[in-house]
Amino acid sequence: MRPEGSTLAVLGAGTMGRGIARAAATAGMRVVLYDVDRAAADRVAQALDGAGTVGAGTVAADVAGAVRDADVVLECVPEILAVKIATLAEAHRHARPAALLGTNTSTMSIAALAAAAGCPGRLLGLHFFNPAEKMRLVEVVRAPDTPPAEVRRGEAFARALGKTPIVVLDAPGFVTSRLGLALGNEAMLVLQSGIASASAIDAAMRLGFNHPMGPLELADLVGLDARLNNLRTLHEARREDRFAPPQVLVDLVAANQLGLKTGAGFYRYDEQRTQLGEAPLPGGAA
Ligand SMILES: NC(=O)c1ccc[n+]([C@@H]2O[C@H](COP(=O)([O-])OP(=O)(O)OC[C@H]3O[C@@H](n4cnc5c(N)ncnc54)[C@H](O)[C@@H]3O)[C@@H](O)[C@H]2O)c1
Repeated sequence: MRPEGSTLAVLGAGTMGRGIARAAATAGMRVVLYDVDRAAADRVAQALDGAGTVGAGTVAADVAGAVRDADVVLECVPEILAVKIATLAEAHRHARPAALLGTNTSTMSIAALAAAAGCPGRLLGLHFFNPAEKMRLVEVVRAPDTPPAEVRRGEAFARALGKTPIVVLDAPGFVTSRLGLALGNEAMLVLQSGIASASAIDAAMRLGFNHPMGPLELADLVGLDARLNNLRTLHEARREDRFAPPQVLVDLVAANQLGLKTGAGFYRYDEQRTQLGEAPLPGGAA
């Protein structure tokens, strides 16, 4: 696809919607944003202007208004089943039949979401990574009944944004969330067992395995509430103990210590998002 002159509707202007909107605008697409929190969508649209793409981002008052003229619709609402289904059903109802309909879900079955939203065969997983304007991968997830042409359109959309797509079959957690969440959980279990500090665990993976970030600092970047939602969904779907949310994560979220977005998670951060050292853990875990 040619990004210039094409329109992307982004439903949910949070961490991922913001980054994807930026990647699309940088590639030359027009972006229409919708968020239940109007101010969140306004902030993203303004940031697109600030990035030198004046007029690239506009804000719609509802899902229908956002998707009406879109060539690609990408759902980026929180990883909560009922919210995803309601948003996708509305998007399917109001988007042009020719529009590509994608979801950025990290863990949910694409086929199950599509069936519940009344659009079997239409929905494609387009799983971006955080920060979406920088990360090069898009995991394109096809359900058994996804037409091959839709898969190719999804790959073309990813390439138009300068990303590299991989195509995988629909299964809870796909490839990347299974691998990433399993590693993150093991890191949290090590932390809560008191074997090592957060910074030692992160240094182990950065320096010993050449990961660009450690698993706990990555969890802070993702958002610990988002991580907990992902784990709950994946654990429910796969029924495998390794995806059960570790207690330290449950406690951090209960204490509203959500990572970078609240200024503290496993680490503390200043307003410039600079890491200030380890944060005290609620309940004295570790
Ligand atoms: N955060 C990550 O690192 C990451 C990475 C890959 C994929 N994902 C997936 O991307 C999706 C979004 O995650 P996020 O981290 O951006 O979440 P987020 O909480 O940062 O943002 C979600 C946004 O959706 C809005 N919203 C809530 N209900 C809505 C509704 N009914 N209609 C429209 N907007 C609504 C919220 O106001 C918020 O701005 C999830 O499915 C998540 O699993 C997240």
